[in-house]
Amino acid sequence: MIEILLFILAYLLGSIPSGLIVGKVGYGVDIREHGSGNLGGTNTFRTLGVKAGLIVTISDILKGTLAASLPILLNVDLHPLLVGIFAVIGHTYPIFAKFKGGKAVATSAGLLLFSEPIMFITMILFFFLILFITKYVSLSSMLAGVYGIVYSLFTKDIPLIIVISLLTIFVIYRHRANIKRIMNKTEPKVKWLSFNKN
Ligand code: G3P
Repeated sequence: MIEILLFILAYLLGSIPSGLIVGKVGYGVDIREHGSGNLGGTNTFRTLGVKAGLIVTISDILKGTLAASLPILLNVDLHPLLVGIFAVIGHTYPIFAKFKGGKAVATSAGLLLFSEPIMFITMILFFFLILFITKYVSLSSMLAGVYGIVYSLFTKDIPLIIVISLLTIFVIYRHRANIKRIMNKTEPKVKWLSFNKN
């Protein structure tokens, strides 16, 4: 029974719509009506700038980190990654925002920050490497997930391999519209992280 309560708690935690709260409370803007319409850090950066983008991205990461730490905090015998998955579901289909949330990237990363911090750091570095080369946040997010699968295979940690594989498939599924835009060459590129201005 306590296990079910933990899953529900993680889902509710993940459901806290950081992008909606920061946008509406701080700027009077619903970011779902701007840019990609996504309720995530990238669209917050795009719509409201660096400060708001950072707050939302960090909040979304921490939702996953906190959810993954619940089994230890509440002394329940459950795998942190299993509990964390429920926060990712909450972030993506939030009960507090009509079930229209983000694309699962930041909150998934948050689980790894808790259970695999070295993997988390190298994934972030890999993400920025791809972002620097391609300027596509969406592509960098998806490839960071693929990097995570390859990394996990070396750990031989079966729960980690299964969870990172499922999350990466889910992240790619959530980026269907971005994939179409990348193929049509209409996906917006970031202008920063570049030495030249083009
Ligand atoms: O984390 C989401 C990011 O990969 C793409 O966001 O707003 O460009 O669809 P967006």
